[in-house]
Amino acid sequence: MCEKMNNIFAGTDENITKAAEIIKNGGLVAFPTETVYGLGANVYNAAAVAGIFAAKQRPHFDPLISHIAEVDFLHEYAATDERVFALAKRFWPGPLTMVLNRIDNNPSIDLACSGLRTLTVRMPNHPIALQLIKKSGVPIVAPSANKYQSVSPTTAQHVADGLGSKVDMILDGGACAVGVESTIIDLTGKDVVLLRAGGTAKEDIEAFLGQKVFVSNGNPNMPTAPGQLLRHYAPKNCLRINIENPEPDEFYIGFGHNDGDLNLSPSADLCEAASRLFAYLRLADERAKFGKIAVAPVPDNGLGLAINDRLKRASYSK
Ligand code: TXA
Ligand code: MG
Repeated sequence: MCEKMNNIFAGTDENITKAAEIIKNGGLVAFPTETVYGLGANVYNAAAVAGIFAAKQRPHFDPLISHIAEVDFLHEYAATDERVFALAKRFWPGPLTMVLNRIDNNPSIDLACSGLRTLTVRMPNHPIALQLIKKSGVPIVAPSANKYQSVSPTTAQHVADGLGSKVDMILDGGACAVGVESTIIDLTGKDVVLLRAGGTAKEDIEAFLGQKVFVSNGNPNMPTAPGQLLRHYAPKNCLRINIENPEPDEFYIGFGHNDGDLNLSPSADLCEAASRLFAYLRLADERAKFGKIAVAPVPDNGLGLAINDRLKRASYSK
């Protein structure tokens, strides 16, 4: 426990500078973003990137997102066009991740990209994350800082609980404001394809582009985004979703007027619900006396699409 506690550092300038040194030297730093905490490494350091896969027990076929602090990075590594820059200008920094065609053959980023011809990139909207990237001087690859397929962390303590001493340093920036991961869109073709619903509403992207965003259902066994795996984000207890009348032995996570042991948002605010989702799944895991959790229905619009996506995967059982 002590070791875990010692791993967490306040997000001060001094500590961010230390963390940047760790990144430069090939270590792993967990840091806050507006969505969830990320487990970061220098994109160019293959050993460090391999360390991320090992710490998370994540398969190597699963590519990582490069986090950048300046749009200029894109020119060097990805095929860009007006659409990409317009989206970046409108939604960055923020919870939108773009999958782009790679133009660089630098093998050191092969591992981060899982050998794919695409590069996945986002600019997080969090001062600690942005400072860390700037001070490190390199893009930082960062998956969510949790073990593969388990619930994503929205506090520094969640990271410590899940990964503990596997991380060299955890920067604490408090609870994540958005609370679900970024929205991922594929821009490698003419159409815009949603690979993962997330913190940027699909409707907002469509309204901005003036075009439909297609939804990829993916192949659950060969996902282009493992967020597409049928079971993901899973709590330990069994979970039922869309439940208005829970069984007496179920721990009930409510929403709006369907009140429960916890309520994602009594006022039915989807942003509030998203920001609480993962923390409440963890609490429910701890508190469910009979190993059963039920969750109230959540509408499917706006951030509700991401919330329901995570709940569906969390509740999946063969
Ligand atoms: O909000 C977020 O995106 C957080 C924070 C830390 O930035 N990161 C995050 O990373 O959620 P991760 O690795 O847990 O999820 C990224 C997803 C994975 O499902 C991965 O398969 C998918 O993005 N992905 C990455 N590169 C891809 C690519 N080139 N093509 C398709 N999917 C890709
Ligand atoms: Mg993840």
